[in-house]
Amino acid sequence: MSETAGSLEHELEGMLEIEKFPPPADFREHAEWADPAIYEEAAADPVAWWTARSKELLDWDVEPTEGLNDSDPPFYRWFEDGRINASAQCLDRHVAAGIGDRVAYHWRGEEGERRDVTYAELLDQTQRFANALKGLGVEKGDVVGIYLPMIPEVAVAMLACARIGAIHNVVFGGFSAESVRERMSFSETKALITVDGARRKGKTAQIKAQVDEEMGDLASLEKIVVIRATGVECPMTEGRDVFFDEVCAAAEPECPAEPMEAEHPLFILYTSGSTASPKGILHTTGGYLTGATTTHRYVFDLKPETDVYWCAADVGWITGHSYIVYGPLANGTTSVMWEGAPDYPHQGIWWELVQDYKATILYAAPTAIRTFIKWGADIPGRFDLSSLRLLGSVGEPINPKAWLWYHKVIGGERCPIVDTWWQTETGAIMITPLPGITETKPGSATTAFPGVSASVVGESEGEPVGEGQGLLVLEKPWPSMLRTLYKEDERFVETYFSRFGVDRYLVGDAARLDSDGYLWVIGRIDDVVNVSGHRLSTAEVESAIVAHENVAEAAVIGQSDPDTGQAICAFVTLNDGVAHTDEVIEAIRGEVAARIGKFARPKRIVWADDLPKTRSGKIMRRLLRDIAEGRALGDVTTLRDPGVMAALEGQIAAEGDDE
Ligand code: WT7
Repeated sequence: MSETAGSLEHELEGMLEIEKFPPPADFREHAEWADPAIYEEAAADPVAWWTARSKELLDWDVEPTEGLNDSDPPFYRWFEDGRINASAQCLDRHVAAGIGDRVAYHWRGEEGERRDVTYAELLDQTQRFANALKGLGVEKGDVVGIYLPMIPEVAVAMLACARIGAIHNVVFGGFSAESVRERMSFSETKALITVDGARRKGKTAQIKAQVDEEMGDLASLEKIVVIRATGVECPMTEGRDVFFDEVCAAAEPECPAEPMEAEHPLFILYTSGSTASPKGILHTTGGYLTGATTTHRYVFDLKPETDVYWCAADVGWITGHSYIVYGPLANGTTSVMWEGAPDYPHQGIWWELVQDYKATILYAAPTAIRTFIKWGADIPGRFDLSSLRLLGSVGEPINPKAWLWYHKVIGGERCPIVDTWWQTETGAIMITPLPGITETKPGSATTAFPGVSASVVGESEGEPVGEGQGLLVLEKPWPSMLRTLYKEDERFVETYFSRFGVDRYLVGDAARLDSDGYLWVIGRIDDVVNVSGHRLSTAEVESAIVAHENVAEAAVIGQSDPDTGQAICAFVTLNDGVAHTDEVIEAIRGEVAARIGKFARPKRIVWADDLPKTRSGKIMRRLLRDIAEGRALGDVTTLRDPGVMAALEGQIAAEGDDE
């Protein structure tokens, strides 16, 4: 360790003693919201508070006369008689207000290409593409798949759907084509928007060819629109496939935005749950837009005229939907959009972008921060980061050490950090500091956003725990909550509203409430694993592993990992006669990459001749977690064959020898 790294380490150790960080005086002085009375005002009547925000930040075509309709819980409806079009809120109204030449996205390509896309340009492209979609037969209520890398067209594709009332179904570009197929097939997607190829760290993947291979026979899929992002040759099927640039050029330039009912579905986004089959989270128009726009404005203390905001997530996750597309655009924000990885073309690329665009707000995941810590503080140290005034964290708990490093090395001790807790299901940030008001504690997402009530309750009875640990619940409906699981109403009720009834939303996380009323989110209580902020179900990974011809059985757990938060650890039983070799390990990892995506590959594979099962045959994952983390084993008396654990312990002890 270099001398400077040693002294930084020492300083951070010292800072661990600091319990609370008040908003820096200079930040507070210029903060839009600095009066804590906002919390009381919202708590006094949350529905009225949200309704006021929705009218303050959005221009409804028809203003709603009612806030919440809770006559059929848990199927809550918001702003029901209002009418609004999400794409018009994000584009038309800004152009009409005379800020059409404001940059919406400063896009930077992997090889250094620059594109500054203005609001007027986005509107023009969105209108043309909306017309093109109509021409391809897409109608209001149809589902349109989007499988794209981080290019400005991804926003155009989403907004064009919203403009005509088609429901977009974005799949993260890191998912394999097979996962895309599953999500398209569940939702009976009619058209898919994708690319010829996608770049990653200097290599180009043949996306369209993979899509053809997996989706060629999908009955519902009538049209595929291909954006020429890389220029690689790609197969096109006559009558089904069209090029984006060609259909846009041929389309009429004007496509008036149709006011939608507030509860018209805006999008589906598949996420992982307890079982192998992903859940189609459904969000609707007026409430979602209210939640995303309000939180984006308040949590980031956004000043649309002057801020340069960068959310370094991928648009394929909910963070990208709410805080790269809908929230920022509805607020008229100038954003940075980066196509690539954090280490290509070099490990300082993020900081180079902050410096070049004079970014003022950075919103990133703890896993990225931990990676930067590993690379060393001298890398960001080479760039001018003085434009930054606010930092955000999202996706997983941030450990206090990483928080302090972010605060000191990136934020120069002048930027508040907003650690934001939320989920695909919540649509918008739920637990977070307000940067001009809240005293932060490293590692805690602090308290619920105004108008949101979060509590920690006992596992069995659901009684409030007061100070202490329990399950996190959200107690009142909020505008951007999921409306259902697409085509699975029963699963929706069962998953979120059966344990404690229809008026308490079960989050699926454990949390602790401290004596100041601050919330500390601990992690999932279900079989969901969070790898680098990517949500995966253990069952999903298990089913990919057992799909391999040599595998008899598999059990997957999330193991804590210093870099990725959690990592996938798989206990695998091979078929009789198959040797435990590195080739088989690679083949299993390859199977998972093909079926789900590279990010889901197990980091560690432990050979297990047998798995610990109860007498009824249920795998005891708790014991696997104990053994993987080197903890003392919990109760083994319910095992059918207690000898299994000794064999596994032997296997773990021998692990190092294999390498
Ligand atoms: C799960 C939701 C939030 C959008 C991206 C992830 C975990 C998320 C935090 C945080 C601790 C967090 C929770 C949650 N999580 N943010 N600030 N502190 N944990 O959305 O894929 O739906 O995952 O991510 O476990 O339930 P998602």
